[in-house]
Amino acid sequence: MLSYRHSYHAGNYADVLKHSVLIHILEYLKNKDKPFCYVDTHAGAGLYSLRSEQAIKTNEYQQGIGALWQQDDLPAAVVAYRDLIKSFNSAGKLAFYPGSPLIALHLMRQQDRLFLYELHNTEIKILAAAIKKDKRVTLLHQDAFKDCLRLMPPQQRRGLVLIDPSYEMKTDYQQVVETLIQLHKRFATGTYALWYPVVERQRINELEQKITASQLSNVQLFELGQVADSDQLGMKASGLIVVNPPWTLKTAMQQTLPYLAKQLGIGGQGSYRIKQLKAE
Ligand SMILES: C[S@@+](CC[C@H](N)C(=O)[O-])C[C@H]1O[C@@H](n2cnc3c(N)ncnc32)[C@H](O)[C@@H]1O
Repeated sequence: MLSYRHSYHAGNYADVLKHSVLIHILEYLKNKDKPFCYVDTHAGAGLYSLRSEQAIKTNEYQQGIGALWQQDDLPAAVVAYRDLIKSFNSAGKLAFYPGSPLIALHLMRQQDRLFLYELHNTEIKILAAAIKKDKRVTLLHQDAFKDCLRLMPPQQRRGLVLIDPSYEMKTDYQQVVETLIQLHKRFATGTYALWYPVVERQRINELEQKITASQLSNVQLFELGQVADSDQLGMKASGLIVVNPPWTLKTAMQQTLPYLAKQLGIGGQGSYRIKQLKAE
């Protein structure tokens, strides 16, 4: 049974990185008029109140979007991100946080299409209410790992797949790589963004090794750490592994991650990594 709820974590430092990269990739795809598709394999609830019991309980957003809200020295990619989050809030007050499906929907055009998977019985209802009726969107209350291959290659032959599970089940670490490779076999020119948490560093080392040993090419890794690696419980860092990134992404992240590590790190422990996992 699924118990993870993103409402405890919405707007935290991991979302800052994930959603800044998401915005950058979608904006890049919009450079051409041709339609594209966006597949969100793990969509979540779509819109989060930062005044909810869950958000208040962890307060994680304060050391994420909250720590960027008033800054006037943000790098360009973070300005785009912060301004988009502002458009979901009124009077300059930070009260709501859009998840990946609403961020994508906000940016996408009439000709583009979204496929949103969410397996949790409650989250899918909240997501449906947040999306309302929109003919661009197909909502799928299904196990994405079992279903998403049938969408490939997409009719548009252009697009982004975001793979963002909660890693509640340890098998997710294996499943994400297998799914990524299978998707890529069917749609080799697509862009893929795979999110990972650094809870135990060894799991991420193994994830990187599997990708390095695979047939995938043109793969970059972007990671943001909030505290130093240790054996303590909990997430210390998180990252995105991007296959076929826009050529502009690496430079944008080189300009962004040092700032985020400084601004969002705790007690001076912030860190970042940028790595070319596979050559073009
Ligand atoms: C980390 S959250 C998603 C956050 C969202 N992508 C965002 O950035 O705003 C992961 C979500 O995946 C859902 N989920 C877990 N396993 C799934 C599966 N096999 N297929 C589809 N959804 C799943 C969970 O219920 C949870 O809502």
